[in-house]
Amino acid sequence: MDINYSIEELNQIAENIIATANHKILLFNGEMGVGKTTLIKEVCTVLGFNDTVSSPTFSLVNEYLTSNDEIIYHFDFYRIENEEEALDIGIEDYFYSDNWCLIEWSENIKNLVPLNAVNINITLTDNNLRNIQLTQN
Ligand SMILES: Nc1ncnc2c1ncn2[C@@H]1O[C@H](COP(=O)(O)OP(=O)(O)OP(=O)(O)O)[C@@H](O)[C@H]1O
Ligand SMILES: [Mg+2]
Repeated sequence: MDINYSIEELNQIAENIIATANHKILLFNGEMGVGKTTLIKEVCTVLGFNDTVSSPTFSLVNEYLTSNDEIIYHFDFYRIENEEEALDIGIEDYFYSDNWCLIEWSENIKNLVPLNAVNINITLTDNNLRNIQLTQN
């Protein structure tokens, strides 16, 4: 999957991601302010969670419950100092829980990320569009 999109097309993109992903751990990579949280919010909507989605600030993870009783974990590792901190919150239990894990700044815990996680790379293009590339095993 390699698509350019505007903010109006976000819902279609999120639908596409959910339809395409072969794993429930999704890594949203891209530079600061590129639109990771915005896309995650839309993915949560598609999964059936319409309430407030914002990056966890004082913890590393937020938990959302969808209308189908699915659990979504939203991680943001921007502020993490080292991988030990992630191990301390029980990151492996989250990753192997079989719930959705939507992750920002996974590069900061790269040794802990499961090999079969879905990679979603977002970059800024001309005309304020975003490019998204999804790669997976
Ligand atoms: N596809 C898009 N087209 C245009 N603007 C967008 C798009 N996606 C996000 N934005 C805008 O970019 C800004 C930053 O978005 P967002 O907070 O989602 O980025 P982020 O990658 O999560 O940033 P951070 O690295 O700080 O976590 C917001 O104002 C948002 O409205
Ligand atoms: Mg963000």
